[in-house]
Amino acid sequence: MADLQITVSAQPPAALAVDALVVNIFEGEKPGESTLAALDQKLQGELGRLADLDELPSKLYQTILLPTNGAIAAPRLLLVGSGKRGEFSTNLARNVAGAAVRALLHRPVETAALWIRGTSDGADLAEAVANGAVLATYDPGEYKTTREAPKKHLNAVTILESSVQRANGADAGAVRGRILGEAANFARHLANAPGNILTPQSLAAEAMQAGRSAGFDVDVLDKARMGELGMGALLGVSEGSEQPPATIVMRYRGRGDSDIDLALIGKGVTFDTGGISIKPATDMHLMKEDMAGAAATIGALVAIARLGLKQNVLGVVPAVENMPSGHAMRPGDVLTALNGKTIEVLNTDAEGRLILADAICYAQQLGARRLVDAATLTGAVVIALGHEAAAVLGSPQNWVDQVMASANAVGERVWQLPLFDEYLEQLKSQVADVANVGGRAAGTITAAKFLQQFVNDGVAWAHFDIAGTAWLEREVPYLAKGPTGFPLRGFVELARQLEKSASRSPTVTERQ
Ligand code: BES
Ligand code: MN
Ligand code: ZN
Repeated sequence: MADLQITVSAQPPAALAVDALVVNIFEGEKPGESTLAALDQKLQGELGRLADLDELPSKLYQTILLPTNGAIAAPRLLLVGSGKRGEFSTNLARNVAGAAVRALLHRPVETAALWIRGTSDGADLAEAVANGAVLATYDPGEYKTTREAPKKHLNAVTILESSVQRANGADAGAVRGRILGEAANFARHLANAPGNILTPQSLAAEAMQAGRSAGFDVDVLDKARMGELGMGALLGVSEGSEQPPATIVMRYRGRGDSDIDLALIGKGVTFDTGGISIKPATDMHLMKEDMAGAAATIGALVAIARLGLKQNVLGVVPAVENMPSGHAMRPGDVLTALNGKTIEVLNTDAEGRLILADAICYAQQLGARRLVDAATLTGAVVIALGHEAAAVLGSPQNWVDQVMASANAVGERVWQLPLFDEYLEQLKSQVADVANVGGRAAGTITAAKFLQQFVNDGVAWAHFDIAGTAWLEREVPYLAKGPTGFPLRGFVELARQLEKSASRSPTVTERQ
């Protein structure tokens, strides 16, 4: 689908000549007495009559479509439920806008106006509404040739603001929301691509292309270079595959000097069969999503660059395919990571932590001191948190707090799990410094505890286990089934928060 065009307008809702006007409805709202009064008057009291019949959709994401019979400029009115007014937020505004857009996608509607009422800040609201609208347009049926193309489809959305003043700030907000939405849809497109199409090499090519158009540098380390550096853990995983590995290094410079403010790292296993410790056939196809962390990382760099944030951000994506073959690593093999630590591979299906170990070491070699990584790392996180929240683990605690606050602020739910030293006992190896698996207990924690062995003292690090949140198993009103883009928004928000705090803290010369 072509990009959705998004504009902001302060015109009265009844005056907009669009194919559909969307209005959100709160629980118990009396249209005659709320900000809907003028519109309801134009509609000859239709909304009031619906309210009297208790037929106004106020339940979150519920929609109804009404013909307007020439009473207002738009021929259709779509009402979308927004729940309790007191509980409304920018995160709900994003979802409500998305639910409305998804309700319009299969209708003969090309243009729509979104009048989402309810939050105080016009710019934040417009950002969320634009973001939700763009996210709602993503369709994972990307490889269908027999898709019924509707004669008309939504291509332009106008976000309505109640005053010209609010609309002014909202313009910039809408642009930000669109940039974030497009970057997330790009990440979803990458995560959705099957293993035969998206290989480590083609993922690297996608990142190079993205860097060229968004404005960041991309270097790709090939197998020989990784061998010279000593990335034995990553290369061990890649050994069984015919597909050459790649470490994708992205550098965005939004600030004068070359210090790295933040490093984003994403697991890029383009397909995970498990290797010699092969996975069962049921649902193995889903392991095409095992590079969702990489996709979110590349997408986050795209968004950060297009937003022009004044931060220097490094992105590192270790990209491999995990296959069984005569060349594959075996259970019991010992690998040496970039920092010299030796790893006994007790299970070749615990491959994500192996490639991330080298990526974490490499980001630190390049000078990064604040790291976050995203990885579809363990099935155990689905047992712990289901599909409603990602696990976050890391240290020091103030960094974990900052990372979690950023994700939660943009509606990506995260929940912290502990990294007590005792868990390291589970990773003891008889022959090497550390084993790559720690048994059935606390699988998400021992995976993170493994990663922590590659984080240097004094370096801040937080790990997102997104195995339960990278992929929606069924659609929700505001998003299609399939890849979610998680945690792209949280990553970008973190960079925005760091930019804000950097502009608040005076430089050394200013302080004197
Ligand atoms: N990619 C998988 C984890 C995964 C599971 C992602 C379900 C998405 C959905 C990872 O590489 C893996 O296989 N982990 C193993 C670790 C185990 C061998 C210690 C797992 O979770 O079973
Ligand atoms: Mn695996
Ligand atoms: Zn994996």
